[in-house]
Amino acid sequence: MTSPVHVLGIETSCDETSAAVIRDGRQILSNVVASQVDIHEAFGGVVPEVASRQHVLAIIPTIQRALALANVRWEDIDCVAPTYGPGLIGALLVGLNAAKGIAFARNLPLVGVNHLEGHIYANWLTGAHIDFPTVCLIVSGAHSDLVLMTDHNTYRILGRTLDDAAGEAFDKVARILGLGYPGGPAIQKLAQQGDPSKLRLPRAWLEGTYDFSFSGLKTAVLRVVEGLESYPGLTRADVAASFQESVVDVLVTKTKRAAEEFGVRQVLLAGGVAANALLRAEISQRIELPVIYPPISLCTDNAAMIAAAGYYRFVRGYRSELSLDARSNLSLD
Ligand code: KG4
Ligand code: ZN
Repeated sequence: MTSPVHVLGIETSCDETSAAVIRDGRQILSNVVASQVDIHEAFGGVVPEVASRQHVLAIIPTIQRALALANVRWEDIDCVAPTYGPGLIGALLVGLNAAKGIAFARNLPLVGVNHLEGHIYANWLTGAHIDFPTVCLIVSGAHSDLVLMTDHNTYRILGRTLDDAAGEAFDKVARILGLGYPGGPAIQKLAQQGDPSKLRLPRAWLEGTYDFSFSGLKTAVLRVVEGLESYPGLTRADVAASFQESVVDVLVTKTKRAAEEFGVRQVLLAGGVAANALLRAEISQRIELPVIYPPISLCTDNAAMIAAAGYYRFVRGYRSELSLDARSNLSLD
């Protein structure tokens, strides 16, 4: 294989249209993210059909811009790596079909990437040295997975959410508190003015498993907010702070236990909720091993992470057929 290797990553699984060019798996030459957040904000969440239409409008200019900013020509690209699942089916199809068209027209290898694998590989873009085995906590709008990684592209899911994902809980609780979408950053901001010790919210430990559950916590928040006048001195900021602390406590406790049980070399954080400042601080403090997490711009959806995961598949000989289908519920293992 000739060096350098340039991978074009394409991501359209939810509400960001993104294209990126990365060199040799670790160096980002460009990472263009066209966000639809402003459009979906009015609806309080992502509207799938609206997302698909926006991807159609944005995909070609986004790819062209990624190549221009990276200062590479089509001849320099070695592989096209689109997300093919999990995600919104109509949204996935836009990026996947664009990638297939490019692969066919330019006779380039196609390497389909699992979106969750992309989130994990954002950690390889930090420049940190990562040894196996490693444990990764993936916390996004749709997933809360605790994953054991024994080699590149090799996963065992230790636990997952039984109901709401961590990010989904942030988004729903934000709505209960009258905050905007996406809820995570809004709750983090409000929580800074609150005192978590003023309210003790429940934690679903699900003892003996690495699974998570956040829907009971969300309901507990709803009950408190509905009867806020019966909690003298308690503010919405206190509720936000207590909610955030409860989610982070469970995530960190379970990740620490998994790291100990499987004797891992370090812990990785991934997904949109990995942008949370309390989670980053608590996990680094409570776990004695090195904890690696991507910069905030690489925690939320972007194509550089997809290209990074695609690179490690590409150099290991993995190739997708042009008949590759989008899969909305694609699993990691
Ligand atoms: O990974 P991501 O961009 O999209 C999915 O693949 O789902 O994650 C989006 C989620 C949203 O639920 C958002 O509220 C949450 O990540 N999020 C945060 C923060 N920033 C984004 N949650 C908590 N704290 C944050 N600072
Ligand atoms: Zn994501």
